[in-house]
Amino acid sequence: MEIKFDKEQRFIVTGASSGIGENTALMLNKLGATVIAIGRNKERLQMLVEQSYSPENMFTEQKDLTEDIPSLPQYVKSLKDKYGKFQGLVYGAGIGKVEPLQMIQYPEVIKEFETNYFAPLFMAKGFADRRINNGSGSACVFVSSIASFCSDKGHVVYAGSKAALSASVKSMAKELAKNGVRMNCVSPSAVNTPMLDEHSRSEEQMKKYPFGIAETEDVSNLIVYLLSDKAKFISAQNYIIDSGGVS
Ligand SMILES: NC(=O)c1ccc[n+]([C@@H]2O[C@H](COP(=O)([O-])OP(=O)(O)OC[C@H]3O[C@@H](n4cnc5c(N)ncnc54)[C@H](OP(=O)(O)O)[C@@H]3O)[C@@H](O)[C@H]2O)c1
Repeated sequence: MEIKFDKEQRFIVTGASSGIGENTALMLNKLGATVIAIGRNKERLQMLVEQSYSPENMFTEQKDLTEDIPSLPQYVKSLKDKYGKFQGLVYGAGIGKVEPLQMIQYPEVIKEFETNYFAPLFMAKGFADRRINNGSGSACVFVSSIASFCSDKGHVVYAGSKAALSASVKSMAKELAKNGVRMNCVSPSAVNTPMLDEHSRSEEQMKKYPFGIAETEDVSNLIVYLLSDKAKFISAQNYIIDSGGVS
């Protein structure tokens, strides 16, 4: 089975300056797609272009997705006016803080929900506009987390934001099915990225996962498959990637 894209197939990838989003952007680009890579860190976005297989098909946009969430649909439209219609969206941006219930503070709770739930919702709203996507065959993948199924101590807020995301994706998928647009989630356990904190890397935590810590491509491989026409019958799903540990 070979997955190939062409440069007329444009994908927005958020979180493209690091970790899972970065690897997904590189993989899509290598397979022939055009990528609009969104992140906040300019230097890392520049490095992404330098690492790309086809730098001429890797475009970067520096953006804080939480600075004006209600205007994100207009932002997606402005990207469409600049680059053309989109084949897909990967929402890979995210933050996660390990914090027990007694420590949580309202502004931080809001920030986590803004990044992990409100922003993807409004990016999806922009993408869902029929003038923005390519219609039948278009697809979105949202990076949720194993925490949305089975949360550990300290994931009170993070787990809630990811569970909200996964639940909404199912509903969005059903709404967009009439246009042939597919929407799915992936829910990894620990992945080797800058987000993975010391607690999650501890030996005790690792005992939960038979294969230990995943690499970014273990997640990107599934994301790219779900974006491709090989997955044309798959929508409204949430795939756990945890080597069978928690699931
Ligand atoms: N790593 C894991 O163990 C793990 C496990 C399960 C799920 N996940 C999920 O996987 C996704 C990717 O995480 P990762 O591990 O790849 O983390 P990462 O390496 O820390 O990357 C996070 C990305 O999100 C971007 N981002 C964060 N806040 C943003 C904002 N306000 N506006 C725009 N971009 C923003 C960052 O951009 P800048 O760096 O440019 O600021 C960065 O590109 C997240 O949703 C995370 O919850 C991760």
